[in-house]
Amino acid sequence: MLCAMQLRPVHALLAVLATASLQAGFPPESPADRDARMAWWRDARFGMFVHWGLYSGLAGTWQGKTVGTRGGMEWIQNYVKADTYAYAHEAIPRFKPKPGFAREWARLAREAGCKYVVFTSKHHEGFALHQSAYSTYDGGDITGRDLVREIVDALHAEGLRVGFYHSVIDWHHPQYDYAAAGELPHPLKGQPSPNGPRNHAIYVEYLHNQVRELVSNYGPVDILWWDYSKPGAEGEFWRGDQLVRMVKEHQPGIIMNNRLFRIPHIEQHDSVDRLKSWNPAEGDFTTPEQTVPSTGIPGVDWEACMTMNTTWGFSEHDTAWKSTEQLIRTLVDIASKGGNYLLNVGPKGDGSIPEESVERMQAIGAWLKVNGESIYGTTASPFSELGFEGRCTRRGNTVYLHVFTRPDSGTLQLPENLTAATLLANGAGLTIEPTDGGKTRIQLPESLPDPICTVVRATLR
Ligand code: GLC
Repeated sequence: MLCAMQLRPVHALLAVLATASLQAGFPPESPADRDARMAWWRDARFGMFVHWGLYSGLAGTWQGKTVGTRGGMEWIQNYVKADTYAYAHEAIPRFKPKPGFAREWARLAREAGCKYVVFTSKHHEGFALHQSAYSTYDGGDITGRDLVREIVDALHAEGLRVGFYHSVIDWHHPQYDYAAAGELPHPLKGQPSPNGPRNHAIYVEYLHNQVRELVSNYGPVDILWWDYSKPGAEGEFWRGDQLVRMVKEHQPGIIMNNRLFRIPHIEQHDSVDRLKSWNPAEGDFTTPEQTVPSTGIPGVDWEACMTMNTTWGFSEHDTAWKSTEQLIRTLVDIASKGGNYLLNVGPKGDGSIPEESVERMQAIGAWLKVNGESIYGTTASPFSELGFEGRCTRRGNTVYLHVFTRPDSGTLQLPENLTAATLLANGAGLTIEPTDGGKTRIQLPESLPDPICTVVRATLR
């Protein structure tokens, strides 16, 4: 079993920061200041991602036809190649936020053991959830409500940190120059602009203005989760340096991902080597999508974002739900490699979260209630290999052995000298003895208290 060797991000960052070109807008910062700013995020380990917009009401169906049963249905406008008018005509009547939806999200996130929630303030479709003075395609104009205010207030009331996912890609704005946007997707790609030549600078001004509203009007914002750039339409295409500086002026402690700048590597099955090419001058953390780097990304802050079925935005056709076992083990896997898990839910057009997601989130929460000590505030495994099916996390001299399957021998053989083994679930002491070559054997009970993942706490000598 491979686990990441532990390497405190700060040490590697020291070296990288010294050599990194800082032209990308993130002001120079001492490693100590960066550590202080990142501390809560590194401890959090688990967040809830929410994709919710006009696409949620369409639910993977366009004019009565199923668009797909798998894949991201928040892209439905692009899949059916609808211009913004046809799209709005179909989608707006199906987007009907029910009163109190935001409190349901917030309560679920807290029950699930999430420490933060990142939600789509605007996805590629261009519909902004907040009440914006710069558009009429937003929550205020379409629903008469400031949906961002409702969500942020609800999250704060549950003690959760708040993140905005904000798409720089925009399939609505009439001046967004999709022809100049390199490989970035657009429903009208390849077709002439229906409204004549586009002046991208006007769109960029609008982008900055809406982001300024978001970071000025809703109290503390903890994360800005940009999405996304591609070669040919990277940082400078969005005036990224200024955007980042403006955001930091309003929210000095904010944490941002790196998708505003050069990130040719957010796809599935990314190799660790490509993720390592991340440059701290272009964001605070990097975002492997739908994949967990096999040995983590030592020295780099990373967060794996993943769906619970196969879509980000709600689809009534996607039934490929991951099991609770898979989700809990993924959380453990990511923590054992030193990363965060941003697990997605896609509420329906009325804001309600699908029952399948609610059940799974609650099950993760129940597991974390018992075993949270082995996840929050831990760092990557100190072992490069474990002799059993499971994972390991660490806090100082304490190690947490996550056992997925009880070995036939009934024992855990550890490559290091350990002492004081107990079951985290009930504090029961386990027989632990040294074996040859400075190794350790721990005797497990006949049956494990948790068939998904039982945690044994032990101390490194
Ligand atoms: C991609 C997709 C998008 C989704 C995101 C989540 O960038 O375009 O639909 O929101 O990944 O990571």
